[in-house]
Amino acid sequence: MKSLAILSHKGGVGKTSLAVNLAIHLAAEGKNICLIDSDFHGPSILTFFTPKSEIHWINSFLTGDSSLEECLQDLSNDLALSGKLLVAFADPTPESIQNVIRLDQNTSMKMLHYLMKMKSMLREEPYSIDYLILDCSPGTGFSTINVMVITEIILFMVKVTNADIIGTSHMIEGLHKQLKSRTKIIANQIPSDFLNDQIRKEHFQKLIENLLKKDLGDKTVDFMGWIPNDLDLYKTEFETAIKTLEGNPTRRMIHTLDKPDHIISKIIKELANNLFGDNN
Ligand SMILES: Nc1ncnc2c1ncn2[C@@H]1O[C@H](COP(=O)(O)OP(=O)(O)OP(=O)(O)O)[C@@H](O)[C@H]1O
Ligand SMILES: [Mg+2]
Repeated sequence: MKSLAILSHKGGVGKTSLAVNLAIHLAAEGKNICLIDSDFHGPSILTFFTPKSEIHWINSFLTGDSSLEECLQDLSNDLALSGKLLVAFADPTPESIQNVIRLDQNTSMKMLHYLMKMKSMLREEPYSIDYLILDCSPGTGFSTINVMVITEIILFMVKVTNADIIGTSHMIEGLHKQLKSRTKIIANQIPSDFLNDQIRKEHFQKLIENLLKKDLGDKTVDFMGWIPNDLDLYKTEFETAIKTLEGNPTRRMIHTLDKPDHIISKIIKELANNLFGDNN
């Protein structure tokens, strides 16, 4: 089993969208996937799916109050995926979010213990998971650090804005002890004219690699490419929200499920190969 954590400095850069799209793509390819909402500050994986009636939040597994089996929902049949897609949702209630924000060291250690237990259980029957994908909160809370400890591949997502690029550089510098030897970075919501300009792309990649190189010692940051800005996405999300407000709960659009021929789906497929191919 390979495990991937998706992190960012700022919120709203596209982590959850990427986590869900990668999970669906891999499950559609016949792989067994476990997708965990580890954004305990602002859970949102739920909005991409239609869950079964009763939800046991993953928070309750991490405190020892529910079994893993209770917290994992198998959505493969509903979504007609050939592989297994097990999803665990995080508790969005204010009480639960405040508990995570106030996480003391003892509770954080207990959470780490359960994360490790979860990882070893997912490797075995009846789960036999190939890829574990964890969607984190923005920033460097205890819960995100715990997730970093248990995952092999750490992928930072950035939007190319001053605030995010500079903040990500500070984050990578500050976290370099916790980082694995190879950390990955991907840029999202890139204007299409930039993506058509190979020279500017190479120039940008060099700039970002230079920015992130400092203070990493023997560690490396691999630049994994660009995801274009989908100009239609906000309209789609708006219409989905209106339907939900009208009392007809509607899940959010997922490129790799709903638009497999879209450029973003193709880029996600390539990214999955680059992240999980034999050389990584
Ligand atoms: N490539 C893209 N093109 C256009 N819009 C995008 C793209 N990727 C994500 N978005 C939009 O940006 C918004 C934020 O995305 P998402 O929730 O995935 O980010 P996030 O990093 O998980 O946010 P948070 O930190 O709040 O959890 C969503 O409305 C999403 O549809
Ligand atoms: Mg998110």
